[in-house]
Amino acid sequence: MAKKIAVLVGSLRKESFNRKIANELEKLSSDNLDLEIVEIGNLPLYNEDLDQNPPQEWTDFRSKIKSADGILVVSPEYNRTIPGALKNAVDVGSRPYGSSVWPGKPGGVVTSSVSALGGLAANHHIRQAFVFVDVPLMQQPEAYIGNSSQIWNEDGSCVEKTQEFLKNWIDAYEKWVNKF
Ligand code: FNR
Repeated sequence: MAKKIAVLVGSLRKESFNRKIANELEKLSSDNLDLEIVEIGNLPLYNEDLDQNPPQEWTDFRSKIKSADGILVVSPEYNRTIPGALKNAVDVGSRPYGSSVWPGKPGGVVTSSVSALGGLAANHHIRQAFVFVDVPLMQQPEAYIGNSSQIWNEDGSCVEKTQEFLKNWIDAYEKWVNKF
């Protein structure tokens, strides 16, 4: 049976390049992986006061992550770090204390940027948060997609060179997931 992978996209923008990259990874992945974007834009900001009576959006998000076999993050860099919406999702999933939904789920991180740096700083900040919530992250190959506005053909498809890179990356991630 295909492994279910929860995909978290760090940008809430409708035309997000990261969302497009996430969709590309879904297309390129083998039948052994079932990638599904779990939306994070509707999650109320984490507030410990609400733990006794959590918003439905938190409960739904937690159960989607709980039922996943792996976690794949595709994110931009905001001001050299992790976008707030993504960090909020990490926090929501990590609580209430003792009931975190993250531990042990094999993770992968892809960052992209319209600049040449490919979201390098955010990539490592995202890793820091997920390491702490006990998500074992694939170390290699890394994925920093630079110039993210320029990797698309006129028909909306991804340019061949980036497709090849993403295919290699998602196949490596599948092997990583299978180790757990
Ligand atoms: C950015 N951007 C950006 N890029 C980068 O390489 N390093 C950074 O620190 C930032 N900071 C930043 C902050 C905020 C608030 C925004 C909105 C954007 C630019 C970013 O790479 C670009 O907007 C991407 O297109 C965002 O990804 P999506 O929305 O296309 O997925």
